[in-house]
Amino acid sequence: MKDYEALSKKHFDAQAAKYDARDTVYYSREGKISCRDIASQLSGLSYDALLDVGCGTGFLIDLLTKQQKARYVGLDLSTEMIREAEKKAIPGAEFISGTADSLPFPDNCFDIVTCSQSFHHYPYPEKAMAEAFRVLKPGGLYILSDTGLGGIGGWIDNHILFKLARSGDCHTTDRHGIARMMEKTGFSVEDSRQVQGLIYTVTGKKRNG
Ligand SMILES: C[S@@+](CC[C@H](N)C(=O)[O-])C[C@H]1O[C@@H](n2cnc3c(N)ncnc32)[C@H](O)[C@@H]1O
Repeated sequence: MKDYEALSKKHFDAQAAKYDARDTVYYSREGKISCRDIASQLSGLSYDALLDVGCGTGFLIDLLTKQQKARYVGLDLSTEMIREAEKKAIPGAEFISGTADSLPFPDNCFDIVTCSQSFHHYPYPEKAMAEAFRVLKPGGLYILSDTGLGGIGGWIDNHILFKLARSGDCHTTDRHGIARMMEKTGFSVEDSRQVQGLIYTVTGKKRNG
C-alpha cells in the first residue's frame, strides 16, 4: 500500500504555517465548517475530558475552550500542525503528535472524541475508529465530521483519484458509510447530518458494557 501517513505528514507539515489563514478548499475551509458544526453540537453539553484526533492547528479546541472548561487534548500526525496549535497557547489544552490508529491513552478516559476533516486520511479507518471507541468512557460521544461521497463518485475517488493524489487522501465515504462503520465498531448512532455540500457530521455513542 502507498504510504498515506508519510504523504499526509509531508502535505500538512508544508501547509501548517498558512493553513488557518488560507480559508480555501485544500486548506482550512472545510475544517472550519466541520469544527464550527462540532462546536455547535457540543455547546450546552457538559464533559470533563475531550480528545480531538487529527487536531491540526487546534482550531476546534480553540473554539471549544471558549465554550466550556475541560481537559482538552489534540493529537496530530503533523509535527508542524502541532507546532501551530501550540503557538496559540490555548489555556487548558495540550497537543501531542501521534497517529489515529494507535492512541497513546488508556481505555475509557475521554468523555468526547472528535475528528474533523481528518478521517479520510487514515489508511486503517476501522482501526482508528476502534481506537476512538477504546479511549472513550462508556456513554461517551464520538463526533466525526468529514467531506465525502458514496456511490460511483466515492468509487472513483477511492479507486482512481486518491491513488494518484500526493496529499495523503486515502478513502472516502458518505455519512451512511460512517454510520455503518460506527455501528459495527460498537457505537449507537445518535445523529447524522449533511452540514454543507459534501460535508457531513455523524455522532456515535459508546454503548455501555
Ligand atoms: C484537513 S486537516 C484538518 C485539521 C483540523 N482537524 C481541522 O478541521 O481544521 C487534516 C489533519 O489530519 C491529520 N492527519 C492525517 N492523517 C493522520 C493520522 N493518521 N493520524 C493523526 N492525524 C492525521 C493531518 O496531519 C492534518 O492536520
